[in-house]
Amino acid sequence: MGARYHERVDEHVLTPTRDPAEARFEESLRPRTLAEYIGQEKITANLGVFIAAARSRAESLDHVLLFGPPGLGKTTLAHIIAAEMGAPLLITSGPVLERAGDLAAILTNLEPHGVLFVDEIHRLAPTVAEILYPAMEDFTLDLVVGQGPGARTMRLPLPPFTLVGATTRAGLLSAPLRDRFGIVHRLEFYGAGALTSIVRRSAGLLAIPVADAAAEEIARRARGTPRVANRLLRRVRDFAHARAEDAVSLDTARFGLERLEVDGFGLDELDRRLLATAIEHYHGGPVGLKALAASLGEDEGTIEDIYEPYLLQLGFLQRTPRGRVVTDRARRHLNYPIVAGDQKDLFPPEEP
Ligand code: ADE
Repeated sequence: MGARYHERVDEHVLTPTRDPAEARFEESLRPRTLAEYIGQEKITANLGVFIAAARSRAESLDHVLLFGPPGLGKTTLAHIIAAEMGAPLLITSGPVLERAGDLAAILTNLEPHGVLFVDEIHRLAPTVAEILYPAMEDFTLDLVVGQGPGARTMRLPLPPFTLVGATTRAGLLSAPLRDRFGIVHRLEFYGAGALTSIVRRSAGLLAIPVADAAAEEIARRARGTPRVANRLLRRVRDFAHARAEDAVSLDTARFGLERLEVDGFGLDELDRRLLATAIEHYHGGPVGLKALAASLGEDEGTIEDIYEPYLLQLGFLQRTPRGRVVTDRARRHLNYPIVAGDQKDLFPPEEP
């Protein structure tokens, strides 16, 4: 069943894209069913149970909140949930819903047991979120009619529906909103094995022959993110064509990835610049996100949502109450000396 878009969602990737060709490419590789989905086994196993149970009771699925870094499959899972429920999907996002009336119009037009996907749900305006609370809890819409002392609240019944909310920042969700989701899952970075399988699957769908070692190399450098893996596969294919090769060899994969400035850990130019800036300008930290973002000339949100999670996961960066700290592991990777004096504020010498 095809999805309807309330408005096209700008999904940002590692480097944000608005490229329609890239979006179509990504769309063509999406798994359509839970059985096709590789990785995130805990989520997919649980969702399978909850969906089967809801279907057997002829009910809508409980509301689902998916959170975690971008590119790990939140939108894909929303599509799959709707498909597995045999229900239509409507896609929108927090920033698109400017007024309460925008959301009210959507809710009243949902089909029974339909799925509403709200991406970036942490960016929902408070006045819009307020409409959502009774809608999620009781499938009712509270409308205020009239103004001043004569204003009255009217309750309208809504069709039962499932809200799938996605966010990169669960911490920014208000408690009343978070509490209304019956199913809450954090998406994790994918392991090398799962990512290799994803690269192989995508290569099969795109009819690009890829040597096993090349698929593993792409997976290893894809920063735990299927969207990145698929993008790297597409780019590496171009290098294979430029070399007049029918199949992507390990050598071509490595050559292409070097040219794309993606290193052995999957770090790109901004990751390295971020770490180098923290080391060179702030003695490796602690440095506040604001200061770091200003030094890099980058948006704070981009760093926090897109770059930091993977650096934290790799153990290249630590978050402390006083700011970000670059670890020795990162210094070794970037060939910086390990300096005893740096980060001295964080690790004070023990009292004798
Ligand atoms: N393509 C992108 N993400 C995927 C996943 N989790 N499983 C299979 N194919 C994918």
